[in-house]
Amino acid sequence: GLCLALTMPTRKTTGMAVSQDELKKQVGYKAVDDYVRSGMVVGLGTGSTAYFAVERVGQKLASGELKDIVAVPTSKRTQEQAASLGIKLATLDTQPSLDVAIDGADSVDRTLNLVKGGGGAHFREKIVEATAKTFVVIVDESKLCDSLGPHFPVPVEVVPFCHEHTARIIKALPALEGCEPVLRLGSAANNKRDGDQPAVTDNGNYILDLQFTKPIKDPRAAARQLKSTIGVVEHGFFTDMASVVLVAGKEGIYERKP
Ligand code: 5RP
Repeated sequence: GLCLALTMPTRKTTGMAVSQDELKKQVGYKAVDDYVRSGMVVGLGTGSTAYFAVERVGQKLASGELKDIVAVPTSKRTQEQAASLGIKLATLDTQPSLDVAIDGADSVDRTLNLVKGGGGAHFREKIVEATAKTFVVIVDESKLCDSLGPHFPVPVEVVPFCHEHTARIIKALPALEGCEPVLRLGSAANNKRDGDQPAVTDNGNYILDLQFTKPIKDPRAAARQLKSTIGVVEHGFFTDMASVVLVAGKEGIYERKP
């Protein structure tokens, strides 16, 4: 599992230093510019990259370039950001079909299977993004890898009741051989990892971060086995979901499709 690790800052062809944050902004803005049109129902992702896509939707509504957008947020954080920008919000209960959803990812492999949930929002992200006609994934090159697992821990949202028992069951799943489940600690289920109490998700659950030293051979089998484990709410494998991945690299932004 060799992965492209980006060490900041990277360089544009112009020779100007571009920070990782700037790459996230560029790709977040481009996803909105290329894939969001007036009148659409839009799923808004969570995290430091999706943040910029939400910002762009707000800008374009304010300038009048976009009109009649209804957005479905994938976390309380995104809901607050979108509300502060005056974006009209809904839930899947009233808007069950999305034209497009835009979100980041923690890992993207060569076949465009993803690991998500570094920000702890993968349950709401998955239920929302599964309804989108087009799911646009936005990443900088540091998220690309040959195979899932060693590149970034796989988050699994679990019910707090007997979570240590659930962790032992997960550790023994055949398709997850060699994984080490680590209970996420922190004041919230974001990526700050601050504090010594279990991090609690927007849904009131805990997160186990599955650490791998070897590549996961069959992510689909791993996903199936996790999904059928009692106590698991949702796991961070997003297999066969991405419609397109926009990658921001030092040479500019490029698209990958399945
Ligand atoms: C949150 C996610 C995020 O999309 C993922 O963690 C990437 O975040 P960032 O853009 O901050 O690197 O899945 O649950």
